Order: sequence, then structure tokens, then C-alpha cells
Amino acid sequence: MPLKFYSCLRRIVMTKLIIPPIKCQGIKTKLVPFIMEHAACPENGLWIEPFMGSGAVAFNLAPRRALLADKNEYIIAFYQGIQNGTISGSVVREFLEYHGSLLQQYGEAYYRDMRDAFNENGDPLYFLFLNRSDFNGMIRFNRHGKFNVPFCQKPDRFSKSYITKICNQVTRISQIMRGKEWQFVCAPWQESFLFATEADYIYLDPPYLGRDTSYVGEWSEEDAVALAEWAHATPANVCLSMWKENQFRTNPHLYEYWSDFTWYEYSHFYHFGAKRSNRHPMTEILAIKR
Ligand SMILES: C[S@@+](CC[C@H](N)C(=O)[O-])C[C@H]1O[C@@H](n2cnc3c(N)ncnc32)[C@H](O)[C@@H]1O
Repeated sequence: MPLKFYSCLRRIVMTKLIIPPIKCQGIKTKLVPFIMEHAACPENGLWIEPFMGSGAVAFNLAPRRALLADKNEYIIAFYQGIQNGTISGSVVREFLEYHGSLLQQYGEAYYRDMRDAFNENGDPLYFLFLNRSDFNGMIRFNRHGKFNVPFCQKPDRFSKSYITKICNQVTRISQIMRGKEWQFVCAPWQESFLFATEADYIYLDPPYLGRDTSYVGEWSEEDAVALAEWAHATPANVCLSMWKENQFRTNPHLYEYWSDFTWYEYSHFYHFGAKRSNRHPMTEILAIKR
């Protein structure tokens, strides 16, 4: 098949993707078609994600039954809010229109006020506001658990079209959740493994070792090794997302702890800034148990 056909097909698949309203480092939106090709939604069992992050994978796979967990309580509270109806497209619109216009008026000072308020109240709508107007959609907390990502430096961030885009994302997620048996849980990853059976499928997307993980607290070599041990011991099927290599190095942890799983590779480029010379190749894999 000609290359043009594939890039066209890829564009069609990408435009149909569900984009979550929350952004996070390591978000897998781009890899969703690849994940969907290899990972299987269990027919009767649970789809389990101990590191759900933005939820991009689960929202696109849309399993009937799921346990979606993360250590980040604000992400979980946000999706629980959508599930129980306290957060909807119209609630989000009203909130972002109000605070977005104050951001336009007062700029960075207002962003800082919102950040201080969030660090006091922990409100998931404040979290959304910060996540969608901070630097690169990052999530990061300091040692005391306080959100500390700087402003994106665009006072007019919450334009009408940007707010509409976010509200549509919220509405779409709420439609996907409807009628599904989904549970959102704030918990350390070990808890998601506790009741897994062989009918279940666990998708693992842990923080990457050797990268900045201050957005979640530490992710140590011991955590990574323990996760590999639990993944091997559980009766459930397991699929791990992990980086394999970039132009500078390969990931030794993968070879040491996951080489008995079947690996499927996906190569892409990531960017630093707009310059072409700042495009770097990266190979990621899905490692699947059986
Ligand atoms: C790479 S991100 C997951 C990205 C996700 N697959 C997506 O597409 O958005 C890793 C997630 O693991 C969570 N996390 C980190 N340490 C954790 C732990 N010990 N237990 C549970 N979740 C943890 C972080 O809060 C973060 O949301």
C-alpha cells in the first residue's frame, strides 16, 4: 500500500479519537490506535488501569466494566464528578467563562490566585482550570503536595472556542460512561491488583523510570521492580506501556524484567520546541503477557 494511504488512514483514525478534558505527562492519546490493535477488552472481566492518568486509553476502548485508578486524587474526583453528574459541560462552561474572563483581566496574578485557592480547597474544577491554563498542561506537585506548575503566559487562554472544546470533551466523556460499570478509585497501584482474576485485563502505564516524576511523587527502581513482580504473579492478563529506546539509550529495566512478555513496537518522534532539529525518535512498546 502507498504511504499516502496509511497517513490518510491514520488521520481518519486520529480525528475519531476521544480526547480527555484533563491533560497529563505521558498521555497516550497518540498511541491509542496502536494500543487498541493489541490490547483486548475482556468480554466478561474487568478492564483495570492502576495508572489511569487522563483516562485517554479507557475512554477510547470503552470497556463495559472497568476499575480506573490513580494516585492523583484530583483526577479521580474530576471523573467521579462527571459520573455522578455534579460536573457537566454546562457546569464547566459557567466556571471557565467566569474565571477565564478574570484571567483575561488580571493575567498571571489571577492564575496564581486560582492556584493558591486550589491548594486550599482541592476543588476538581479549579484543577481543570489550572491544568488547561498552565505550562504545557503539566501536572506537578511540590514536596508538600502543593500544585506548582507556572502559568502558560496567555491571559486570553480561555477563548470561547477553547471553552467549547473543553465542554464538548466533558460531555463526550459523560456519554461514554453512561450505562457502564466503571469505578474511579484514588489508590496506590497495588490496590488495583488485589482482586484481579484471570478474566480481567490490566493495562499498565506507570511513570517512566529515569524521567521527571515530581508530578506524582517518587517512582523509584524499587517501585518499578515491584510492579514487574506483581504483573507476573497476577492471574489476570497484563499489558505494559513502556519506552524501549531513543537515540541516546535503551531501557535496561525492560530487558531485565519484561523480556518474557511479547513486545509490540511503535516508533514516533517527540518534539522540543518548534525547530525541526529538535525532533527526536523514540520507540515505545506494549509488552503483553499472553
Ligand atoms: C504515565 S501517566 C498515565 C498516563 C495515561 N495512560 C494517559 O494516557 O493519560 C502515570 C500515572 O500514574 C499515576 N501514578 C504515579 N504513581 C502512582 C502510584 N504509586 N499508584 C497509582 N498511580 C500512580 C500518576 O498520577 C499518573 O497519572
